[in-house]
Amino acid sequence: MRMRGMVATGALVVGLLVAGCGQAPTFSAPSFPTGSIVQGAALYKTTCTVCHGATGLGVPGVYPPLIGATSSIRLKGLNPTQNQLAQFIYDYMPKLNPGSLTRQQASNLAAFLFSANGRNGKAEETAALGLLPKATAPSTGPATPSKFLTYQAAAKTVAITLVAGYNSALSGFNFNGEGKGAMVITVPAGWKVTVTVSNKGLLPHSAAIVTNAANSTTLAFPGAEVPNATTGVAPGSTATFTFTPTKAGTYRIACLVPGHEQLGMWDTLRVVASGTPSISL
Ligand code: HEC
Repeated sequence: MRMRGMVATGALVVGLLVAGCGQAPTFSAPSFPTGSIVQGAALYKTTCTVCHGATGLGVPGVYPPLIGATSSIRLKGLNPTQNQLAQFIYDYMPKLNPGSLTRQQASNLAAFLFSANGRNGKAEETAALGLLPKATAPSTGPATPSKFLTYQAAAKTVAITLVAGYNSALSGFNFNGEGKGAMVITVPAGWKVTVTVSNKGLLPHSAAIVTNAANSTTLAFPGAEVPNATTGVAPGSTATFTFTPTKAGTYRIACLVPGHEQLGMWDTLRVVASGTPSISL
């Protein structure tokens, strides 16, 4: 039961129909256990943000929004029950690794998403949004430049700083204090990206933009790595590289010094078709 090629916003309802074996959905599937909003929020952060975004707004045309006015979960037409939503998540998500969640985890995620969409009542909605990482970031407002990301919209250039070994997170195997995909940098295709890697750690570290697979060393775009990426930039030193992403998609920002990515030293680069750059830590 594959969902490949479906229009994103219709995916949930179609998925539910598929789950109901093609008839008008009857949903005789056994009930899922009661979900925990708090645990669902935590799991969402580690497992779902990479595609659906830290605030649940997704990426237009690529990953459907799960939270907010345009989400299928809120739209009246589709209106899945919490149990149906849990079933969908259990069967199909996370996209690249379906079947990896327990029924309890799927329930927790459904409870969280229901709550975050205000379908459990206002008090819970507020509580769930409080749990959302960076929930205060406006959905469609200006991007969030920070000390790690600045850009020039007119020139279509963006400057990213990756501080390797920024702090003790993941025993120092982090960029800007984040690893295991948690930092999500979004850049529109066709913009010129300059990355400065500054190594504050005690070991050599590097950075490269590679295809989105564990331990991939396949460069996603020409030039998208520091020189001598497997040797790394020496502690206390800085290196720079520039590339222009041409294809929308999800990629990894990885340290290619052997063993470092396995210890968590990778983050996420999303290339989107349009919009402005942003960073979410
Ligand atoms: C690798 C990217 C990726 C990850 C990670 C991911 N999803 Fe999805 N999700 C998608 C895509 C793409 C779709 C659109 C339907 C499809 O292609 O299967 C989708 C659809 C959905 C839908 C249906 C929404 C609609 O409007 O049709 C729900 C609900 C959902 N995902 C929940 C989750 C949850 C919960 C997690 C975390 C456990 C998760 N997803 C992780 C990519 C992802």
